[in-house]
Parts: sequence; structure tokens; C-alpha cells
Amino acid sequence: MKITIVGSGYVGLVTGACLAEVGNHVVCLDVDVTKIGILNNGGIPIHEPGLLEMVARNRAAGRIAFTTDVEKAVAHGEVQFIAVGTPPDEDGSADLQYVTAAARNIGKYMTGFKVVIDKSTVPVGTADKVAAALGDELGRRGVHHPFTVVSNPEFLKEGAAVEDFMRPDRIVLGCASDENGERARRVMRSLYSPFQRNHDRMLFMDVRSAELTKYAANAMLATRISFMNELANLAEVLGADIELVRQGIGSDPRIGYHFLYAGCGYGGSCFPKDVQALQRSGMEAGRPSRILEAVEAANEAQKSVLVDKLVARFGEDFSKRRFAVWGLAFKPNTDDMREAPSRVLIRQILARGGAVTAHDPVAMDEARRVLALDYEHEPALLERIAYAETPEAALEGADALVIVTEWKAFRSPDFDAMQRQLSEKVIFDGRNLYDPERIAGYDLDYIPIGRPIHRSTVAAA
Ligand SMILES: NC(=O)c1ccc[n+]([C@@H]2O[C@H](COP(=O)([O-])OP(=O)(O)OC[C@H]3O[C@@H](n4cnc5c(N)ncnc54)[C@H](O)[C@@H]3O)[C@@H](O)[C@H]2O)c1
Repeated sequence: MKITIVGSGYVGLVTGACLAEVGNHVVCLDVDVTKIGILNNGGIPIHEPGLLEMVARNRAAGRIAFTTDVEKAVAHGEVQFIAVGTPPDEDGSADLQYVTAAARNIGKYMTGFKVVIDKSTVPVGTADKVAAALGDELGRRGVHHPFTVVSNPEFLKEGAAVEDFMRPDRIVLGCASDENGERARRVMRSLYSPFQRNHDRMLFMDVRSAELTKYAANAMLATRISFMNELANLAEVLGADIELVRQGIGSDPRIGYHFLYAGCGYGGSCFPKDVQALQRSGMEAGRPSRILEAVEAANEAQKSVLVDKLVARFGEDFSKRRFAVWGLAFKPNTDDMREAPSRVLIRQILARGGAVTAHDPVAMDEARRVLALDYEHEPALLERIAYAETPEAALEGADALVIVTEWKAFRSPDFDAMQRQLSEKVIFDGRNLYDPERIAGYDLDYIPIGRPIHRSTVAAA
């Protein structure tokens, strides 16, 4: 099948590569000349396990190409995926300007029948807007070409995106009920059949239900996280251990273990904006969501729990303090810094006069870029952020360690070296990585989230 992907970011590039991998011919379009340049030079602009090799393999086989040429890209595929960004607008609603621009481009250049697929996360009713924009462009040209708009939200997780796409839990497809919708259904079936050889994972539904399904999924996951974070804060006050509570409730199959980890707040390019966009949709429809309002407020507050713990230990003035920060990306196995809790923590440390030495296994370049922009007008603050090439090097000259992202590489550190390097001998763990009993033999205080503080007894002994 010939497929065009409009937007070659996390979702577009993974979608394109995986569709090429099963034998399709894919053209990926982007307006970002730098991104397309990197791709055409054999690189990839993001960190995603397995993606570089997959793109290289399919490029060499002539099954995937990258371009900024809109006309050429639109001419290529009978199937046109829209996978552009839908960032939050000022009022929290999804900004649809990139989706609309992508639809208009298709309308400007299409010649025959096209199945246009919304893969971007978009509010209910967007497929109608895409159809209207496309129809408008066809009208301007005075031509009539048949098309249909399918809603096919993406559920991949950054850090495991290739695996998720190749072995999806489900493939949600919202199609119109008319003749073109029926035709699209057949196209979708053959497009996705290579990804579900074991059993049928396709869920066909109407377009609006498919659009809402994506927001419902992310809002549910965000709700679980905020719920556990609130419980963790309560557990701390009540003298309970959230890790034991997590196991106690996760073992109930109605609840399950996934997404029950307390931490220092969710971030990333999806949860924060999708929760807000669904809230906005609710307000506009006269059905505001009290739950989502609380989910968001709880998350905002949670991003400050680490600094609250630092203040409780060291007081408000950090001017003589340097903190080692382990983990900058919003989650492991990605270099994505969008809405990363590390950015909030670093700002709060700098605002109190402190300094930071940060390490992340893959997000250092992206962090340097993003933080340079964050502090563009505050060079004095930017100067207080240093980067270390290894986790151990970040500890040098630091008073304490603060863990923000749960990278595997942080799970079994050299506590012996740590107790020698950290002048205040304390770990603030925003992801509850360690078993307190393991730390018990070291001269280290351990301050996790929602669990009892473990104070070193080694020095006193
Ligand atoms: N990142 C995720 O984990 C994830 C998961 C599921 C769904 N989504 C959704 O998928 C969509 C894309 O997310 P992403 O993370 O891939 O974004 P991204 O910012 O990484 O990529 C979007 C790309 O679209 C390009 N673009 C913008 N306008 C364009 C146009 N008119 N023509 C061609 N290219 C254009 C941008 O230059 C950019 O490269 C969003 O709606 C997001 O909510 C993301």
C-alpha cells in the first residue's frame, strides 16, 4: 500500500517506520527542514529504542522516504495519516491549526480518492473540521474528489513506541457509516492486518467515539497517577507505606498494578495537555469535569513535593547548596523533555539560590536545548545548571541527590561511593527506586515519596 504520513515527529515517524517494516511504501512529510535533513542523512531526530535501525532498514529497502515537498507527498498515498502536533491553546483546548493546515494541504493537491486518517489526538468533532477544510480547498480548485476521514487515535508509549505499534493492545478506528466510510473500513482492515496475526485487535466504531476514546484513556491513566500521589501524601502523614498499599490494591484484578506508582507528578507531551483539552471540551459542552479539574490540580501540586522535602531539610535558602539531579526526561527511555517534572524542580531550586548538576542517560542534549530556551532571559540562573556525563560524576560536590526519572541505570547505584560523595548524605527519591533495607547499611538518609523516611543509623553507631 502507498501511505503518506503528514508530520514526522514521535507518532508520525514511528507509524511510518512500522508501516514500511511490514512492506508498505511510505512517504513521511514534515514542515521542519532540519528534521527531514536529519532523516535524509540517515539519522533520526528523537531517541526511541529500535527506531533508528528500523528506519535505516526500510530506507535501504526503498520503502520509506522523507520530504518537505507537500505536493509530492500528497500525490503518493491513497492513505494520508495526519500525525502533527496538537499543543494546548491558551485556554487549554487543543490547538488545531497544524491539523487544519495538514488537511488543507491534502485538499490543495489531492487528485483521486483519499482516506484521511486523524492520528493526532484531537477533540470530538475534529474529523468534521478536517473534512470541511479539505472540502473547502477542493471547492476552491473547482474539483470533486471523493475522500473520507477516519479517526485512528494512537496509543503508543514513548520509550516503547516501536514495540507498542508492532504489537498493539487495540487499534481503534472510527469510520463514517456511508459508502466512503465502508471503503475506508476495508482499507484499514488490510493496513492493520499485519499487526494482529494472533487475534483481531481492531475496534471499529463511529468517528466521535473514537476521538473521545483517546482522551478517555489518557484521562483515566492520569487520574490513577494523581489518585496514588494524593494517597502517597496521606500515607506520609499517617505513617503508612504507599508501596505496600500499592501492592495491596494492585493485586485486586479490578484495579491491577499498572499506573499505580506514586511519584513527583506526571509530565510529557500527552497527559498534561490531553487532560486539559478534555476538561475544555467538557466545559464547552456544558458538562464540566470536577474529576479532571482535581486530577490536574493534584498533579501540579505533586511537582512541588520534592522541593518541599528539600526545604524541610535545608530551609528556604539554597544559596550554598548544589543538588545532583538524576533524570531529566519526563520518563525513562526517551529524550522528550516536554512538561518534564525535572524542569519544575530545577526552577524551584534555582529560585532559592541553589545550583544543580544534572545527569540523564539520553536526554542531555535535549535538556541543554530546552533549558537554554527556558532561561533565555535569565542567564544568571542558567549558569547554575551544570551537566555531568555519568550519574557518579553528578554527585561530585553535591550536598544531596534528587531522583526525578526512573531510569534503569539508577536502580542499583554504588551507595558506598554515594555516602562518600554527598556532603549531606541524603537521597530524595521522587520515584521510589530503592528498597530502604538496602540503604540501611550505609550512612545515607533516604527520603522517598509516600513512604517512611529512612534515617541513617550507621554514623551514630
Ligand atoms: N508523543 C506521544 O507519545 C503520543 C502518543 C499518542 C498520541 N500522540 C499525539 O500525536 C500527535 C503528534 O504528537 P508527536 O509527539 O508526534 O508530536 P511532534 O511534535 O513530535 O511531531 C509533530 C510533527 O508535525 C510537524 N508538522 C506540523 N505541522 C505540519 C504540517 N502542516 N505538515 C507537515 N508536518 C507538520 C512538526 O514539524 C513535527 O515534526 C499529537 O496530537 C499527540 O497528542 C502523541
